[in-house]
Amino acid sequence: MPNSVASFIICTILGFGIGFAGFELANKNDEASTETPTETATNTNTPTDDHEPEETEQPAPETVSASSEILNAKGCLSCHAVSSLDLDGGATGPDLSQAFTGVEDKHGKPLDEFLKEPTSAVMSSVISGSPLSDDEVQQIVDALQEASEK
Ligand code: HEC
Repeated sequence: MPNSVASFIICTILGFGIGFAGFELANKNDEASTETPTETATNTNTPTDDHEPEETEQPAPETVSASSEILNAKGCLSCHAVSSLDLDGGATGPDLSQAFTGVEDKHGKPLDEFLKEPTSAVMSSVISGSPLSDDEVQQIVDALQEASEK
């Protein structure tokens, strides 16, 4: 009798132990498979991270996200798409893919001057309501130059 009680206890402990070990293993595999993609995503999404300088293979995606960032941050995308940069946006204003070369023909001044002092109605009120610094104008011009070359 005591013997069977003892073996019951031992079996219980063994069974529990093996089950737990299996659970642990499965858990570790899960962690390993989910961790890799999460880490890559974090790295590409946070260019301000400390890891940044170590990574040398990122300039291409960064240029695109930098261009979209300034257009997004300034609210341009609420009215404009830039299809050549794959940026979806509002349909109130024209697609800006060719604005870098097109603005001078249409509005009689190069893009950077147009952005400082737009000649068209809607853009005049957009810019007077939220003026762009020289630096921001330059970033937008760079982004739209890139867009026009694609
Ligand atoms: C409230 C909506 C709105 C916002 C916000 C807006 N735009 Fe516009 N944009 C327009 C409209 C509408 C036009 C068409 C011309 C006009 O009536 O001003 C235009 C025209 C332009 C043009 C001339 C394009 C062409 O082919 O004639 C450029 C360049 C431009 N916008 C850039 C920008 C940039 C850069 C921003 C962000 C700083 C911006 N816009 C924000 C509505 C907007």
